Amino acid sequence: MEDPRISRVKPRSGREIVLFPLPLQGHITPMLQLANILYSRGFSITIVHTHFNSPKSSNYPHFNFQPIPDGLLEGQASTVDFIALVTLMNVTCVGPFRDCLAKLFSDASNDRIPCCLITDPVWHFTQAVADELNIPRMALRTSSISSFLAFCALPLMREKGYLPLQDSRLEEAVPELPPLKVKDLHVINSKDPEDVLRLIIAMAETMRASAGLIFNSFEELEPTKLAECRRRFPVPIFTVGPFHKQSVETSTSLLPQDRSSISWLDKQEKPKSVLYVSFGSLSIVSEAQFLEIASGLANSGRPFLWVVRPGSVRGSEWLEALPSGFLEGLDGRGHIVKWAPQHEVLAHPAVGGFWTHNGWNSTLEAICEGVPLMCMPFFGDQRVNARYVCNEWRVGLHLEYKVERKEIEDLIKRLMVSDEGDEMREKMKSLKREADECLQDGGSSYRSLQKLTEYLVSF
Ligand code: UDX
Repeated sequence: MEDPRISRVKPRSGREIVLFPLPLQGHITPMLQLANILYSRGFSITIVHTHFNSPKSSNYPHFNFQPIPDGLLEGQASTVDFIALVTLMNVTCVGPFRDCLAKLFSDASNDRIPCCLITDPVWHFTQAVADELNIPRMALRTSSISSFLAFCALPLMREKGYLPLQDSRLEEAVPELPPLKVKDLHVINSKDPEDVLRLIIAMAETMRASAGLIFNSFEELEPTKLAECRRRFPVPIFTVGPFHKQSVETSTSLLPQDRSSISWLDKQEKPKSVLYVSFGSLSIVSEAQFLEIASGLANSGRPFLWVVRPGSVRGSEWLEALPSGFLEGLDGRGHIVKWAPQHEVLAHPAVGGFWTHNGWNSTLEAICEGVPLMCMPFFGDQRVNARYVCNEWRVGLHLEYKVERKEIEDLIKRLMVSDEGDEMREKMKSLKREADECLQDGGSSYRSLQKLTEYLVSF
């Protein structure tokens, strides 16, 4: 049955887009949001997905879902080494994906005319499959444009001797990639470091061969990087973000969201007084870091809402490592949940700061709500995002040296109760304004979406 919350503005007979998200939370979310946006422009939607981390199809009764076997054996379906995981799935999914795509496109009828495939570029094998079947394939890169270009520069960084990272050079600036320092380079730990470089090269090559690129970002936020990307990837490029502000709020969450986050925030009397703390869906801290974080939060004297994802503290299931009576001792000043409705949390008037790992979705969501950041990146694009937040856009403070209670306490106070924090809040407000404006009639993302729609119809 048609979901009554979802309106289709320009119904167009039968044109269908087939989307294939990478099965990781930070990648599934923007892909499903893009699907919702395209649905609202009149396209029918089919989502091809792996069994591993499959999206909740019941949240999308208006989409067609096509599961494919991912060929993973028991024990291989783990995100602990997700580079190894996606490298493997780029091999095991080829056959099942090809069969599924061939069937979807050959079963076309007057009601269903599949016209384009959109995949995560990390699924680099999909370009060869699309070429073989003569299907146009576009790529949705779910990161920022800046971090994408820094990612593509890794082979060059190795040639120039920045990689592998050397402790003595971590604080050096990288003149080829300002404002990055050597330690911000996208190093992702994997059992075979060559896998990371191979993945980047394959991804970039197949993006160049694609029918076009889509980014969940907006022109005003990254103008020079967008121009550079256009020079280096001579295919049509569409910046249509921020996605979540244009797509109906349908949960893309793989974990249940704890609504007590909102009822607890409702009880906070002072606006912008609460620090929201969440490190996304993949980050893992050591028990020692967890204890420093807990003490820093407690000693800051600020109210906090803290997401501790089960399994995110090494060696613990959830909160076992917390000193007993930790929350009780705070007398209601802290609230811990396993997973929160993050969009609603960030939009809540009680929230005044966000301690984040700088995943791109979280960073963009904070920009859209005008919430300044305390940045603690873990790996990959998060380091680049954090550097841009703190050094380029100047809307956050970087916890970049030590995860240590005194440092944390000081940074929280600077962010939440100081003139410096207020200045960042003001700068965030102007970024938020730009994010709002780019979506309005005539705005940059609005126009880009129009062009994308016309482009998709042309296939
Ligand atoms: C991963 C990578 O870690 C990140 O660097 C990359 O940019 C995208 O893929 P993840 O770590 O999950 O993503 O972070 P992020 O991109 O911030 O995405 C997390 C999503 O989960 C956000 O959309 C956020 O709203 C949602 N979330 C997070 C919740 O709904 N509830 C929570 O409690 C925490």
